[in-house]
Amino acid sequence: MNNFKAIGITGIGSYVPEKIVTNEDISKVVDTSNEWILERTGIRERRIVCDNTSTSDIATIAAQSALEDRGISPEAIDLIIVATATADMAFPSTASIVQKNIKAVKAAAFDISVGCSGFIYAISLGYTFIKSGLCKRVLVIGAETLSKIVNWEDRSTCILFGDGAGACILEECEDGHGILSLDLGSDGDGGNLLMLPAGGSKLPASLETVSKKLHTIKMDGREVFKFAVRIIEKTANIALKNAGLTFKDIDFFIPHQANLRIIQSAVKKLSLPSDKVYVNLDKYGNTSSASIPVALYEAYRKGLIKRGDVVLLVAFGSGLSWGSIVLKWNKQEV
Ligand code: ACO
Repeated sequence: MNNFKAIGITGIGSYVPEKIVTNEDISKVVDTSNEWILERTGIRERRIVCDNTSTSDIATIAAQSALEDRGISPEAIDLIIVATATADMAFPSTASIVQKNIKAVKAAAFDISVGCSGFIYAISLGYTFIKSGLCKRVLVIGAETLSKIVNWEDRSTCILFGDGAGACILEECEDGHGILSLDLGSDGDGGNLLMLPAGGSKLPASLETVSKKLHTIKMDGREVFKFAVRIIEKTANIALKNAGLTFKDIDFFIPHQANLRIIQSAVKKLSLPSDKVYVNLDKYGNTSSASIPVALYEAYRKGLIKRGDVVLLVAFGSGLSWGSIVLKWNKQEV
């Protein structure tokens, strides 16, 4: 991608619910233990919304935090993209609800559904809208309330997921900074490895689908694990090559926070030192499309990412899908 105007993240925000559910709490509900969950996943606890809080509520808070970080009013936003697997409802879009909540009166709004890769896809879309000249500022949000679609009786999945939201403002930035390259991919053959079977046109909601808990996450964990380890290396290599960089140039690596063993295996394959890798899944579990922006926000606020640092973001998820972004961090330290 040569000869493009530089487009980067100029504002960033995040929100996680206050309620903490520990591994001990889950072990009182299903046959599991803190030791098993910690050893197999690296997760210690996760945040869960209250019953009357929806994805748009936490997406709104993350969006307001990003606007504040950037120091602009909502009217300066041209487009809102929400990446989510847990939209408030099939329609209207969660993005249009956020638009109403934050009063972004000049913004177009839509959702995308790419599972845990959603944030990377949404950033890529925002980038393209700005590059084309159609938009000046895009608000990109990854937000999930996965606690609402987890089967709390299935120990193989309920231990993994949490709720949260992260938001970024994308716009033109200083030359040589911002998004340097992108890689996106999909393999529909693996679609049945990770799905929410009912509630769509294939299997509309019925008494039967509800009683069989078909409105909850079904996953073949072992196969998803193998896919993740393989694809992180592949997509990261492509994105780096597109940017004309190598792993030695990476200052910071923020992978999708699904499982510590997946991250450790990827880091080993990529020969990255562990102090260049950000991990917070011990506190939040897998928050799907929110995991990367929440982690990026934390790393930035902690002062771990400095202006000029080369940051690699890598996600994988249902679809199966994957994506990577290489960016040169353009924001000043807080
Ligand atoms: N507590 C205790 N035992 C358990 C639990 C649990 N919570 N869950 C499964 N087990 C048991 C299984 O029943 C099995 O028992 P068996 O050998 O008697 O049949 C045993 O533990 C081993 O099960 P595996 O599934 O092989 O365990 P594994 O080491 O693969 O860990 C896990 C399971 C954690 C789900 C892992 O496969 C994983 O993390 N996969 C990737 C999942 C993922 O990242 N998904 C999201 C990616 S995309 C997105 O983010 C939406």
